[in-house]
Amino acid sequence: MKYEIKITKTQNPKAKPDPVSLGFGDVFTDHMFIMDYDEGEGWHDARIVPYAPICLDPAASVLHYAQEMFEGMKTYKSVDGLKLFRPDMNAKRTAQTNDRLCIPHVDEGFYVDAIRALIDVDRDWVPGREGTSLYIRPFIIATEPFLGVRPSGSYKFIIILSPVGPYYKEGLAPTRIFVEDEYTRAAPGGTGCAKVGGNYAASLKSQMKAHSLGFTQVLWLDGVERKYVEEIGTSNAFFVMGGEVWTAPLDGTILPGITRDSVITLLRDWGVLVREERFTIEEVFAAHDSGRLSEIFASGTAAVISPVGELRWKGRGITVGGGSIGELSQRLYDTITGIQSGRLPDTHGWTVDL
Ligand code: COI
Repeated sequence: MKYEIKITKTQNPKAKPDPVSLGFGDVFTDHMFIMDYDEGEGWHDARIVPYAPICLDPAASVLHYAQEMFEGMKTYKSVDGLKLFRPDMNAKRTAQTNDRLCIPHVDEGFYVDAIRALIDVDRDWVPGREGTSLYIRPFIIATEPFLGVRPSGSYKFIIILSPVGPYYKEGLAPTRIFVEDEYTRAAPGGTGCAKVGGNYAASLKSQMKAHSLGFTQVLWLDGVERKYVEEIGTSNAFFVMGGEVWTAPLDGTILPGITRDSVITLLRDWGVLVREERFTIEEVFAAHDSGRLSEIFASGTAAVISPVGELRWKGRGITVGGGSIGELSQRLYDTITGIQSGRLPDTHGWTVDL
């Protein structure tokens, strides 16, 4: 499928932020990509326009029944130009999420082309400072003004860009994680494996609870027995126990993270045994008590690798790895960001030059 992208450039470029003080997701570039979908016509009118608010009917179904999806990826300034990290995986995951949410399919090749075209227009916005990047947020919303519950007949696919620094204010310093045993993130047959805003809305209550208790984020347990370890905050979770690395399997309640996949591939390259199997929070605490728990880390596009220094469950707190970043966490962070920024060889063909 071939679409033409019409480009209208801004007449009022904004001042770029100071890269030293970049946080996560609060500054946006000069342009955005938009494409519309209408039943009978398909996707049409692909365009890049100045970044601006969008106009929605108050009855638009996304505002009532949350028929929407989003993605996240990053582009990095490398020694030899700009690079995207595994954009084909984001396109594929978008297709899977769209299928789950009854959102019309977007051609996967065009999806990546649209991202490339937008970054090309705003390429001066990619920060170069160590630890910074340009975060790419594609999303699709249902726009039909209709209060009945059924898939919308019209949609907007939008891409916005945000120069970012670290996701957690801790940066690479270990986080404090609270094990959530009241609320859950996902249930079998639900939308845990899809990248939909509703999952994140439902997680806010726990996040606020964790913050009020002085923790950075929560660790999610399974939605049936509340004993199997699933994810940490908005990220996949890894546990180094007895020299093996454990992470929850992709059984429908876990987001198939692109960083998760990269972590597993690298660990296996290095000869580390990775177990994608169910394991309980009790096993994690038992591993700590017997001295076999050496590291816990979260992985995601936003944070890349985020080490955990403390875990609290049912009133009991444990310190992980002496409260410092572990050897594997540091090596994974250095290797993934090294490949993303072109400092290290990309032996798996993960990066795409822009
Ligand atoms: C990611 O790390 O990939 C995320 O999804 C975080 C995002 C919700 C800010």
